[in-house]
Amino acid sequence: MTRPERELEITYWLLDTRSLWPGQKIAAQAAAELQLISPEERQACTRKYHIADARMSLASALLKRLFVSKTLGIPWTQVRYGRKRDPTHGKPCALLPDGSQAPIEFNVSHQNGLVALVGSSSPEAELGVDIVHTNERLQSTYKLIDREGLDGWVDIYEDIFSDEECWDMKYNVDPFPLLDGTVVTAEMLGRHDRVCRRGQPIFATLPSGEKRSFSSDLLIDAKLRKFYVYWCFKEAYIKLDGEALLAKWIKELEFKNVRAPRPGTPARCATYGSWGERVSDSEAWLKRRRLTDVRLEIQSFEEDFMIGVAAKPADRLPEYLTDFKSLHLEHDIVEFATPF
Ligand SMILES: CC(C)(COP(=O)(O)OP(=O)(O)OC[C@H]1O[C@@H](n2cnc3c(N)ncnc32)[C@H](O)[C@@H]1OP(=O)(O)O)[C@@H](O)C(=O)NCCC(=O)NCCS
Repeated sequence: MTRPERELEITYWLLDTRSLWPGQKIAAQAAAELQLISPEERQACTRKYHIADARMSLASALLKRLFVSKTLGIPWTQVRYGRKRDPTHGKPCALLPDGSQAPIEFNVSHQNGLVALVGSSSPEAELGVDIVHTNERLQSTYKLIDREGLDGWVDIYEDIFSDEECWDMKYNVDPFPLLDGTVVTAEMLGRHDRVCRRGQPIFATLPSGEKRSFSSDLLIDAKLRKFYVYWCFKEAYIKLDGEALLAKWIKELEFKNVRAPRPGTPARCATYGSWGERVSDSEAWLKRRRLTDVRLEIQSFEEDFMIGVAAKPADRLPEYLTDFKSLHLEHDIVEFATPF
């Protein structure tokens, strides 16, 4: 890929809160860090019922403040926020000391302990990020799928996804591995790619002609993974745009050429989890027209996370849209911050 002449600089930060602030009460565990955020942010954090949510809320407040303070070159405690367009539901933005909107762009997402920020010092950039976790509420998802089938489950979201997207999620499957690592493609499945129930005995015909039997649970998991890619792109684009819950066009926003990236490896006692595959060639369409100005990318992290980014303008973006750098709480954030 040739690099654009005036390529935008984009910041991609990730803060993993899963091993931060252990215990049950954020106020006790993160007393020092809570002094680094505003009284309103602190209150929002300590009000969370689950400490896991409080951790992500604190991490998000720290990441945003770090980005805005560094990018605008203003003191840590003087960072202020507003919202674009709608004062209640609009996209969060930074404010200049005179109260006007700062000419920078950022967006945040949190899920299952991970917090991501994408940002740019350029006012032309429009960015949206979303993290999905494929094990999120998995048992209740399975329960619903066992009752309604995967097709019935996808239909629950028919107000969000177009007919073509629903079809793709129900009946098309990306290559997925069997338990021994053999990768099964849609072609090997024949019409078994239409299966929407778990617990069915199905088989794939390998290139050698050998038939391999396995449970449709694996097929359904692969289809679910693809569902989360659609979800992630939709959220990332909605967050780029900032219209959020007020967007009336969600169903007319379509994604094509969607494929789930292969997972990374899980975190083990002595190592962090690893990044998996990147998928960068999916397309965004709105009201049947391709949004040529938007680029999308999704990357797997560990086995169950995927992080998606939607960005504009397409002709000024760097090669990768998910070039995340893991920040260290103490060295990268606390040492830079000043208490309120
Ligand atoms: C706020 C919203 C945009 C994202 O929420 P989410 O996916 O549940 O949560 P995420 O962790 O990914 O994002 C939360 C962050 O989004 C940011 N955000 C809030 N409102 C936003 C908006 N209007 N536009 C962009 N970003 C927004 C905030 O920075 C927030 O983090 P913070 O509170 O720590 O600052 C969401 O509530 C929403 O409106 N979603 C779209 C509606 C929908 O129907 N989605 C269905 C499937 S696509």
